[in-house]
Amino acid sequence: MLSRRALLTSAAALPLLSLAQPRPSFANPRNPGPVPKPTSGRTVRLELDVAERPQSLPCFGGRNLPLWTFSPDTPLPIVRMKLGDRLDTHLVNNLTRANEHVSIHWHGLRIPIDQDGVPYISQYPVAPGRSYDYSFVPPDTGSYLFHTHCNTAEQLGRGLAGLIIVEGDETEPYDHEEVLVYRDWHMSPDGTAPTFEPFLTDNGAANAGTFGKLRSVNFQVEPEIAVPAGADVRIRFYNVDPTRILELGLEGAEAAIIAVDGMAVTPFPLETWRMGSAMRIDLVVRTPADGGVATFMDYRTAGGAVLAHLKASGTPKRTQAFDPAPLAASRVAAPDLGNATTIAFELSSTAQGSLLAADAERFPGIDSLCLSQKTFWSINKTTWPETGHEKLPPPLAVLERGKSYIFEFSNISKQFHPIHFHGHSFTYLGSNKNNLPPHYTDTVLTVPRERARVAFVADNPGDWMLHCHVIEHQETGMMGYIRVL
Ligand code: C2O
Ligand code: CU
Repeated sequence: MLSRRALLTSAAALPLLSLAQPRPSFANPRNPGPVPKPTSGRTVRLELDVAERPQSLPCFGGRNLPLWTFSPDTPLPIVRMKLGDRLDTHLVNNLTRANEHVSIHWHGLRIPIDQDGVPYISQYPVAPGRSYDYSFVPPDTGSYLFHTHCNTAEQLGRGLAGLIIVEGDETEPYDHEEVLVYRDWHMSPDGTAPTFEPFLTDNGAANAGTFGKLRSVNFQVEPEIAVPAGADVRIRFYNVDPTRILELGLEGAEAAIIAVDGMAVTPFPLETWRMGSAMRIDLVVRTPADGGVATFMDYRTAGGAVLAHLKASGTPKRTQAFDPAPLAASRVAAPDLGNATTIAFELSSTAQGSLLAADAERFPGIDSLCLSQKTFWSINKTTWPETGHEKLPPPLAVLERGKSYIFEFSNISKQFHPIHFHGHSFTYLGSNKNNLPPHYTDTVLTVPRERARVAFVADNPGDWMLHCHVIEHQETGMMGYIRVL
């Protein structure tokens, strides 16, 4: 619910002109009721100061690129907090480009709608020179992230992201922990350009997206990360790229997945795991003996691409066979499948999108068609208006609070679509293309001709975005929202 005070504060941040426009009513003010959450009484404070900060990260090979970041101290703020702690965030938009609004979405966290950070759904966007405050208690342990929800292809492409790690899920201590953050950069390969290449292109948006040309993990190219030998090391692996879908594997060590998108799963061996934009997995890796190396790979790239190495050293910490302890069970409510209502979603390209994709096949390099309305993708034949959130379409579905639902996603297009749902965590049920172990996820990664089913309890009232997290697909129509009343 948007409190009166918050409404006044955010209204004051609006340019006068937009105040005159008709506004949709904010999501569901009648029925506030956050998901159950613990409380410790402690508060963690986070200052986010969004600004352009040119810097030469190790992966840029000496070049200085105009990053947009949340902090003068680090290109990627990482908030660590304990389950039950409150997070109070003060956001200041110090971008200087006219009309470059921001808002923060706390990706994967099941928090109340008024904190969800979607412009015109849960708050007004924050104009340059303005500020905004968020305050919530994350209800779950695990690995989460935050990013802006305005002009996201460019803002995330320039670096605007941060991580939230909610601790308290370990049932037995691991020997060591590392956070690995994957992303590409839209840097020109010729080594001269002092700026980024385009983050969104018509050709990319109508196909798999516009890929960056430089891969990085923790802002380095193929880093060698020091870990203890013969140890059980927890790895939080994040894909924060706006576009690329990884097929993550590890060579040279045993590994088990212990959480998907923040939520604990019964540990199962990592063979390979597909990760779309903003998806996370937590792993336990039994590291090699002293001097040994294990290597993270992306097998979606032909021949496999090296992402990062783990370099082990020291006397072995463990000698027993690898049998990683599970994390504490998630707090996600179990859906009542016997009484669940099924809702089908068809993921498809629009006529315009298909035409453009076909043209791109025939005339590679074609771009900038001067289209007035770029709507290449749809969910149930509905596209999100390209010109922004201020013209809200009706919800894709209206759900009853407390009831169980099955969402069935049919991908009838030629591209992969990682479909992300705000404010909830899905229980994965299965698909005609994949045979994945039971897990929770906030994003259903569908491949062409896949029909995937997930279930959840609609326990968080509000208007929640449902969109492809290939950001160019999101920004060219593949987005809608679900109303939980
Ligand atoms: Cu990480 Cu609506 O997105
Ligand atoms: Cu998509």
